[in-house]
Amino acid sequence: MEKYYFEEHEKTYQEIKRDNLEAWDQYHDPTLYNFENFMMRPFLERALEFINVTSTDSTVFEYGCGTGAGACFLANKGFTVDAIDISPTAIELAKSIALKRNLNINYTNKDLLEMTELNKEYDLILDNYCLQSLVTDGDRSKLYAIIKSGLKKSGYYIISSAMYDEQRSYGENTYYCGDTSIVYDRIISPGPYNETIMINNEWWKPKRRHLKTEALSEELKSNGFLILLQENGNIVCKKNDIR
Ligand SMILES: C[S@@+](CC[C@H](N)C(=O)[O-])C[C@H]1O[C@@H](n2cnc3c(N)ncnc32)[C@H](O)[C@@H]1O
Repeated sequence: MEKYYFEEHEKTYQEIKRDNLEAWDQYHDPTLYNFENFMMRPFLERALEFINVTSTDSTVFEYGCGTGAGACFLANKGFTVDAIDISPTAIELAKSIALKRNLNINYTNKDLLEMTELNKEYDLILDNYCLQSLVTDGDRSKLYAIIKSGLKKSGYYIISSAMYDEQRSYGENTYYCGDTSIVYDRIISPGPYNETIMINNEWWKPKRRHLKTEALSEELKSNGFLILLQENGNIVCKKNDIR
């Protein structure tokens, strides 16, 4: 059975490769972004200043790294970076981009949700706009358990997630459920995908989770994190050990 979050991402990276582009954000808005100037960068810079982690001997795990904009940014600062992505094309591009930049990053093609735990503990775990693609409650609680398994007690989990935006318009083949904040894509039949649902005799596939600010902070708290800084979908948190 194919994971609902695989196909869209892999197809996009095949187009990025075909068009000789380097990054997800650049593909979606080349006027604003490129590999160096990725969407999360301003917040990531603020977050690093806020937590004051020095790069010497600090280790980072990034899931959903894509072609590695965030991973390269951190490796350039001296962090030791392990990074994974579910898309084989993204990892192929990430490896060649890092090689061109002379950066040593440990990239692996892997679905985070197929892991049960991380095999080491990190000073930083980074989510550079992956979270909104992991949609269902079950997948999100699994994700948070995996993060906690690999985050040092003193470590930080830094997130940028797409959020609910009342200005955003969803197309006619997309449905935003106000109760759950889940965005679904209409499909003809459940086909090979997991987690599809039938609403009013039509089939839908989960696509995004566009939570409101408060709902995301509640979700993180109830999954065992202590929020230190939040600017809507931009968050710095730690494991909450006083529970
Ligand atoms: C919006 S893109 C962001 C990519 C990259 N962080 C960047 O900013 O360029 C989300 C990424 O998450 C990856 N992804 C989605 N689900 C994943 C999973 N379960 N495990 C690993 N990677 C996943 C996608 O393949 C995609 O590269």
